[in-house]
Amino acid sequence: MQAFSSRFHRMASPSSVCNSCWMILSIALALGILVHQADARAFFVFGDSLVDSGNNNYLATTARADAPPYGIDYPTRRPTGRFSNGLNIPDLISEQIGSESPLPYLSPELKGQRLLVGANFASAGIGILNDTGIQFINIIRMSRQLQYFKEYQQRVSALIGAQQAKRLVNRALVLITVGGNDFVNNYYLVPNSARSRQYDLPDYVKYLISEYRKLLMRLYHLGGRRVLVTGTGPLGCVPAELAMRSTNGGCSAELQRAAALYNPQLESMILDVNRKIGRDVFIAADTHQMHNDFFSSPQSFGFTTSKIACCGQGPYNGLGLCTALSNLCPDRNLYAFWDAFHPSEKANRIITQQILTGSTDYMKPMNLSTILALDSRT
Ligand SMILES: *[C@@H]1O[C@H](CO)[C@@H](O)[C@H](O)[C@H]1NC(C)=O
Ligand SMILES: *[C@@H]1O[C@H](CO)[C@@H](O)[C@H](O)[C@H]1NC(C)=O
Repeated sequence: MQAFSSRFHRMASPSSVCNSCWMILSIALALGILVHQADARAFFVFGDSLVDSGNNNYLATTARADAPPYGIDYPTRRPTGRFSNGLNIPDLISEQIGSESPLPYLSPELKGQRLLVGANFASAGIGILNDTGIQFINIIRMSRQLQYFKEYQQRVSALIGAQQAKRLVNRALVLITVGGNDFVNNYYLVPNSARSRQYDLPDYVKYLISEYRKLLMRLYHLGGRRVLVTGTGPLGCVPAELAMRSTNGGCSAELQRAAALYNPQLESMILDVNRKIGRDVFIAADTHQMHNDFFSSPQSFGFTTSKIACCGQGPYNGLGLCTALSNLCPDRNLYAFWDAFHPSEKANRIITQQILTGSTDYMKPMNLSTILALDSRT
């Protein structure tokens, strides 16, 4: 706001026709900003490392991104717990809806007025299933994320009253990104994993979808009314899988089969839930297709590669973790992947743009711009 008003004073002085007019205009603009802030839409985030903004920093877990070079392109140039060189998708959606990024729920700074912006409950390593990511020990599984959401609502009620708190939650935008780990950190984590002995792949996918449906219904019962749900990317094409499973540079067929089974069923489940509820609460974002676009023509998005991670080691920089000792590319904007599993900020920007303005090939039943326009009328 400081910068805003001084810019207006600079503009005003050359004319100096009506100084007080500029003053009045500045005050009006400042008031407008305050009203907008009070009325801004809260944003809640659930899911895994693709959307974790630092909850795991507060936990005893190995699934963390709080050391350099993570955050190398973040505004502070420091690691924050985001699994990105810079911003992640929640940050970029916040940018679009004109609000601050919601803080991690475990952050001690998340209190007072800051609560009204929303909260990020995501935790790297988790999946739809409770047994996904057990190797990461202490992470916030989905049922706990939802429990925290309930606790959050009690805290906000104490701050602004139950009715206003309910309104804030009902009007909020919600993002949930989960599911990839149920394959890479569960079913395919080790050969002959417990889940792969229990289910063949098509039945496992059905089980995941039925469990996911329960989570979405809980989110609805907790007040979520506009919920973006992303699918998984092409799991077999990420640098980690190329390094571990690819023989000729092609994507892992088995993980590609998993993603090809899972994503369409997720989408039809979401649309079915909307039909049952009788309104468009859940919005399916086809991140599988969005990522496939990078793979089929990286150059048309300005990437020199969609196979090699910017940070890592081994083939495709796809083995092990991204650490201070890893190879690090000089220009992160040329890479679709930042580390062995996670997109670069540049790729996150392209995905966010598709979420915002994508056609119904990508966004069902509609894109975020349409949602924002619809909701601004009510
Ligand atoms: C996952 O764990 C939570 C909390 O312990 C439990 O309530 C829930 O039923 C579990 N989900 C499944 C599918 O077992
Ligand atoms: C969003 O979706 C609508 C309907 O598919 C489409 O007409 C529009 O061009 C898309 N983009 C924006 C910015 O609304």
